[in-house]
Amino acid sequence: MASITITTRSGEERVLPAQAGMTVMEIIKDAGIDELLALCGGCCSCATCHVHVADADMARVGPTNADEADLLDSSDHNQPNSRLSCQIPFTAALDGLRVTIAPED
Ligand code: FES
Repeated sequence: MASITITTRSGEERVLPAQAGMTVMEIIKDAGIDELLALCGGCCSCATCHVHVADADMARVGPTNADEADLLDSSDHNQPNSRLSCQIPFTAALDGLRVTIAPED
């Protein structure tokens, strides 16, 4: 099965099973990682699903959409590799993706 690797705020690395059709946010939440709040449930209106994508994976993840970029602008932890994980649909092409959960705003 495909997987993603996430790094939590405490620096713990976890390899999570990943299925196409889920978003990266859903994969992280389904694994029981509650520090990713995802308060709006994936509607792109809260920015509490903020992650930093590994530099090597930026090209295959692609750019932010306009609404996502607006929300990320309001974060103190916005970086060039910032994404909202609810806006990243997982596909087989993202197998092995590495993301770090951004610090809480
Ligand atoms: S879960 Fe709210 S913006 Fe992603």
